[in-house]
Amino acid sequence: MAKSKIAYFCQSCGFESPKWLGKCPSCQQWNTFVEEVIEKGNASVPAWKPASTSQQRANKPVPVTEITYSEEHRVPTPDKEFNRVLGGGIVPGSLVLIGGEPGIGKSTLMLQLALNMPNQKVLYVSGEESERQIKMRAERLASPEGGPIGEGAYILTETSTQNIFKQIEALEPDMVVIDSIQTLHSAHIESTPGSVSQVRECTAELLRFAKETSTPVFLIGHITKDGMIAGPKILEHMVDTVLQFEGDRHHVYRILRTIKNRFGSASELGIYEMMGEGLREVSNPSEILLSHREAPLSGITISATLEGMRPMLIETQALVSASAYGTPQRTATGFDTKRMSMLLAVLEKRCGFRLGAKDVFLNITGGIRVEDPAIDLGLAAAIISSHEDMPIPFKTCFAGELGLSGEIRAVNRVEQRIAEAQKLGFNQIFISKYNLPASGQDKKRMDLSRYDIDIKIVSSIEEVFSLLFG
Ligand code: TYD
Ligand code: MG
Repeated sequence: MAKSKIAYFCQSCGFESPKWLGKCPSCQQWNTFVEEVIEKGNASVPAWKPASTSQQRANKPVPVTEITYSEEHRVPTPDKEFNRVLGGGIVPGSLVLIGGEPGIGKSTLMLQLALNMPNQKVLYVSGEESERQIKMRAERLASPEGGPIGEGAYILTETSTQNIFKQIEALEPDMVVIDSIQTLHSAHIESTPGSVSQVRECTAELLRFAKETSTPVFLIGHITKDGMIAGPKILEHMVDTVLQFEGDRHHVYRILRTIKNRFGSASELGIYEMMGEGLREVSNPSEILLSHREAPLSGITISATLEGMRPMLIETQALVSASAYGTPQRTATGFDTKRMSMLLAVLEKRCGFRLGAKDVFLNITGGIRVEDPAIDLGLAAAIISSHEDMPIPFKTCFAGELGLSGEIRAVNRVEQRIAEAQKLGFNQIFISKYNLPASGQDKKRMDLSRYDIDIKIVSSIEEVFSLLFG
């Protein structure tokens, strides 16, 4: 037997070292090194065998003007939200990672896709569940059109990459799903499944397979809250596209977010609802994210946000109350707590609201996490509305970023936000003065007179409050 080789891997970022280290020089984390046995070139079974010619082929430099390409041929899926996050459909030969916490619905999403791909032979490889368990799950998943599903779907319960490639060669699928990458092991590496070196080797084999046969491969990867499990973090560099499936497990809504995409925009978002019969696409998110109230209540505002190319109106809630303890509580759900502290400081310093001794709670409805800074103005208005106990008029929404001096800053694609607010029947929208073209510029670039909605142009937070509460 060949002498086994040992290396130490950082479980956080995948950094490899010949000796154990206390602190990772790459990601600066402490105590993350774990010994792994790696044994290369000893396995008798080959990994994915590249076609003999492709390995010897050496590329020559080509003038960029002479390179021709055809518009990337994409395979659309029946799931419109999935197409959106991929940038228009599946690119042949692409390697896509779908990351997410355990139990969020990754297997459900991918099995549903496998069952519904029309005229495609899909191989679903599971290292986590038995054939019977998958069949039981498949029976719960109804097709969106109500027709028969699962025509071209094949299930393989296997964890050895060598065996998987053997089956792939026999079946010749048009698309492969691996559930999950942490359960696979390659005979070329000695360490246990899920370790950094195994995950890296299995992904490299699948990557070679995807590129050489132009078969798209989807990898499911688990991450925990602290991101300690080896895998997705180091995989992000290797794959073409990284999608993150997230959401609050106690809510029905799930978000599929593009983190990286070599073939499209990296800020797209797909929204699903988890039902008894699997995931349902949510095509008009604004309508579900706005709750239907009879009378205006204090502390509730609507913000016109934008995720990727898609405008969404989201309800934001704030509760400000006198603190019962010495240290006031500050909690934000779906919003960055540091940013919330900044908003409170601006309101205190610039507008003179005494928030220092108040408990403040912020909530973004639907369990959605918003990163768009345009939500600042809506949140600030909600905080003041709750503090003063004065409701904000119905059918009012906000789109503006708050600066440290209390100025309302411009947001991107403001016209798209205005159009969405108008479409949903809002009466007025507050936007920043700085969103308007400067006096010397072409006025035609933004013609606000074509909107029916009342557009309130504001430049500072004080101005917003005098317009709202007089
Ligand atoms: P699963 O896809 O197994 O999650 P993951 O692969 O990310 O670990 O989904 C787990 C949850 O989804 C589970 O709590 C049950 C729920 N679920 C439904 O609500 N409806 C369904 O039709 C299915 C299949 C699952
Ligand atoms: Mg699963």
